[in-house]
Amino acid sequence: MVMWMADEPDVRAWVNADQAAGEFRVRYAELFDAEARLHEQRLHAAANVGAAEHVLDIGCGTGRSTRAAGRAAALGTVLGVDISAPVLELARLLTDREGLRNVSYRLADAQVDGLGSARYDLCISCFGVMFFADPVAAFTNIGCALRPGARMALLAWQAPEHNEWYSEIDRAIGGASACGARMFSLADQHTTAGILAAAGFTDIAFTDVREPVYYGADSAQAYDFVTGMQTTKDMLARLDLAVAEDALRGLRITLAGHMTRDGVLFGARTWIITARIPHENAATEPPRAAAMRQLSDWNNDRAG
Ligand SMILES: C[S@@+](CC[C@H](N)C(=O)[O-])C[C@H]1O[C@@H](n2cnc3c(N)ncnc32)[C@H](O)[C@@H]1O
Repeated sequence: MVMWMADEPDVRAWVNADQAAGEFRVRYAELFDAEARLHEQRLHAAANVGAAEHVLDIGCGTGRSTRAAGRAAALGTVLGVDISAPVLELARLLTDREGLRNVSYRLADAQVDGLGSARYDLCISCFGVMFFADPVAAFTNIGCALRPGARMALLAWQAPEHNEWYSEIDRAIGGASACGARMFSLADQHTTAGILAAAGFTDIAFTDVREPVYYGADSAQAYDFVTGMQTTKDMLARLDLAVAEDALRGLRITLAGHMTRDGVLFGARTWIITARIPHENAATEPPRAAAMRQLSDWNNDRAG
């Protein structure tokens, strides 16, 4: 899992140093593909890609969700966008191998780079929209690429305490939570609804998904996977040698404790977040006003 330093001053530099390098993600592409498959299946069911739709996939990584959308939109198109060149290289290779001619990729920062104007019927993202420095700006930019009435379906982690894979590994290797974790930036429903409403989206809804995540066929593979992550390396590098050795022993025990007939599994919860760009002529009030009204409804619901 990719973590985010809460006080990181230069977001772009961080992305470049870790995600844009992308080598770890490429090396473990198969395991990443299997990791949250049950959650992703729920995302695809919610997105319900139409055969002739034009789809935008944000933070597409190696293009797993992009290709799935491409198979569904056989008469349409899918554009996968990511800020990391190495992952897009692999995405293109896998897409060519599958012969999906309606799928393409673009190296771009979804927060600031133009993605087209009112072109897409649907925006999807599989864990790719939690890393923005300015989420309202990013979702506003994404919204500009969507046509009136377009849908959006996102998959994002719920809070760390609902995600065993994070809390237990964090406990074993000691204190990742002190860094803060950007990947949980959409975990709070109220905050996320506010971000999306401020960016002009409406009909914002959350579906609670509870399915295990997969860390490998056995605890040895899971150990290699977890210790290969840059965040784990960074954490261990901050410890004295003896403490680091203890932490690694603890990690082995934790991973072994999660070995099941189906491999190493940890409890996990995500949100499927769905929203829509308002129809131009459907509302009597302007889209942004409608969005702000929805935010105010959320506030009233919470207060009540
Ligand atoms: C956790 S990965 C998910 C990748 C892929 N969707 C998957 O499920 O395997 C997050 C992805 O978002 C990309 N990303 C992060 N910030 C981005 C931005 N501002 N614009 C575009 N992509 C971004 C990263 O490079 C990374 O590939």
